[in-house]
Amino acid sequence: MNPTGRVERPSPTINKNTQNYMKVTAIAPSNIAFIKYWGKKDEVLRLPANGSVSVNLSNIWTKTTVEFGKNLSEDEVIINNEKNSKKAARVIKHLDIIRNLAKISLKAKVETQNSSLTASGLASSASGFAALSLAGSRAAGLNLSEKELSILSRQGSGSACRSIPDGFVEWLDGNKSEDSYAVSIFPPDYFEIAVIVVLVKSQTEKEVSSTSGQERTSLNPFFPVRIQHIKKKISCLKDLIKAKEFSKFGEIVESEALELHAIALTSLPPIIYWQPETIAIMHRVHELRKNGLLVYFTIDAGPNIHLIVEKANTDRLIAEIKKHFPDNQYIVNYPSQGARIVKDHLF
Ligand code: PMV
Repeated sequence: MNPTGRVERPSPTINKNTQNYMKVTAIAPSNIAFIKYWGKKDEVLRLPANGSVSVNLSNIWTKTTVEFGKNLSEDEVIINNEKNSKKAARVIKHLDIIRNLAKISLKAKVETQNSSLTASGLASSASGFAALSLAGSRAAGLNLSEKELSILSRQGSGSACRSIPDGFVEWLDGNKSEDSYAVSIFPPDYFEIAVIVVLVKSQTEKEVSSTSGQERTSLNPFFPVRIQHIKKKISCLKDLIKAKEFSKFGEIVESEALELHAIALTSLPPIIYWQPETIAIMHRVHELRKNGLLVYFTIDAGPNIHLIVEKANTDRLIAEIKKHFPDNQYIVNYPSQGARIVKDHLF
């Protein structure tokens, strides 16, 4: 790592043919963490306080096209059809990291489309920075390895590093930039689950971003307790996925989500990500379990709730959602592959 916090690589593969910068498009999935990333040991490099484990989601994703061009005097960033919005600055900062790696100074055109609502705890920053890292690095003539792409994505948004590898993924926290990246621990079809995201109706841009939420952990007396036991929890969860022990896996995932929110609730100032509907759904999940449907929830930094069931029970759970929450939108996901290049460009 260098003093600017950018990833240094001994000799990246650079496309010497600087006449021909390609237009490249990538799709990256969002991911949902079973063991959450919350808090950093290095703010600039986005080194997490702890490791985390997630799965990529098949139906929540970002598609991004990038092209560097000699005729551009400024970067042009279009996010969900909006040109140079306030989110563009973070994209441009990430382009600077890519330009630094590729040793180029050309400006770029970037267009990006999300499959669903942004900034409501649906981790669009994860899919967004993973897609930008893959499309942007290739468009700049780099051919980064999966590990290098994960490291690059992490610097845009921590959880984005987990949207690069396939299926079930672990982010190794690491102590320096080169050691903090995600790896696939099981392929998508290893553990047959479904993740149904139920969107609460009061959808607004979330009040406290995960970045600023995480900054409030430093004085939280419960945070060191969390860090103390998290390695054991990660290892236990991985064993349960390996053994395909769904109910024990679900119990850990649900209690982990509540632990994250316990930290958020007891931060200064406190953060309440839940809406009344979030809590209503949590209670319904417990009812359903009592009645024999094995379903568990997890929640990120927002009000939406992710319901996890065995794949065979997907239709049964959908029927329950329709019955009890008929006005809520929901997105059915299965474990998916990670970031990949596609041919159809956005411009
Ligand atoms: O990647 P960020 O900075 O948006 O943080 C993500 C934090 C959580 O979604 C709450 C947890 C996680 O591990 O994804």
